[in-house]
Amino acid sequence: KLTHKKTFTFSAPSNIALVKYWGKKDNQIPANPSLSFTLSNCKTITSLTFTAKETKGISFDLLFEGQPKESFRPKIQKYFERILPYCPYIEDYHFTIDTQNTFPHSSGIASSASGMAAISANIIALEKELVSDKDENYFLQKASFLARLGSGSACRSIKGEMVVWGKTESIANSSDAYGIEFDYEVHPNFKNYQDSILLVDKGEKQVSSTVGHELMFGHPFAEQRFAQAHENIAKLKAIFASGDLTEFIKIVESEALTLHAMMMTSMPYFILMKPNTLEIINAIWKFRNETQVPVCFTLDAGANVHVLYPESVKTQVLDFIANELSQYCQNNQYINDFVGNGVEDL
Ligand code: PMV
Repeated sequence: KLTHKKTFTFSAPSNIALVKYWGKKDNQIPANPSLSFTLSNCKTITSLTFTAKETKGISFDLLFEGQPKESFRPKIQKYFERILPYCPYIEDYHFTIDTQNTFPHSSGIASSASGMAAISANIIALEKELVSDKDENYFLQKASFLARLGSGSACRSIKGEMVVWGKTESIANSSDAYGIEFDYEVHPNFKNYQDSILLVDKGEKQVSSTVGHELMFGHPFAEQRFAQAHENIAKLKAIFASGDLTEFIKIVESEALTLHAMMMTSMPYFILMKPNTLEIINAIWKFRNETQVPVCFTLDAGANVHVLYPESVKTQVLDFIANELSQYCQNNQYINDFVGNGVEDL
């Protein structure tokens, strides 16, 4: 047991799923595999100070941008309780957790993936101080495993530009328990892929992801949907090798619309897209038809639109966003991001 006091600081990025995780079993086990691009600019930076204590138990203070933030407490308490069986040492320390995001507060960009990945990287840094007989791969897997217990998609924010989470035949060593780096051929077309996030609606979602995942149980189209996710990952694997952007766009847009179709066809049903989400989708289709620029959209569980495009067409797409799409964003706001590599030790 370490008796001193020490502070770590890690940043972890958000990620955007190309093949969507929607539906989970107990213990944050996904009903289907998913595949994502890791992002760069949208991230959470978390410092964790641990101090050895005498009595055992979960004990922590929470700061957001340096100020006490009690509203995050239940989520973090639950996270610590879930990881405790795998990290019994956390009961020996008091933690002070100080966290901040690089993206605007309540912008509708979910901070749960980056936030849970950042805190998990810190916990693993502590574990590294305590054990000496494990290798780097063990620690990476375990960081992703812990992040998953915080928020499913967070396990895809630890390491690698593209990450697969969920056991699936076409990806060797894939696991339901943690994300793994996509380790196959990737054509230069997909190098440094760009993602501009259009902030359509900053409001609270009417239906949380947790409820949405649960509604996939007893959903009339669940089995076909889960099978489709496996197929789409196998297809994307071939597309990443060939560089076929037309086929890439078909899968990515279909996945986004299917995710929202699942929401619209669950019971109770709900709609998270807003009128401006559809305005943007239509404008992207029109622009792509007219210019042949390979730009497409994806959505997460909300109204915001992620605009995805290769670096080679960046100038044209940024002009298009500034001139045409930004009018559909709240206060004309959008964030230009691109593919990144995961957690960083600061
Ligand atoms: O990680 P959660 O439970 O917030 O679920 C995220 C689900 C989607 O963002 C809609 C899809 C995904 O794979 O990230």
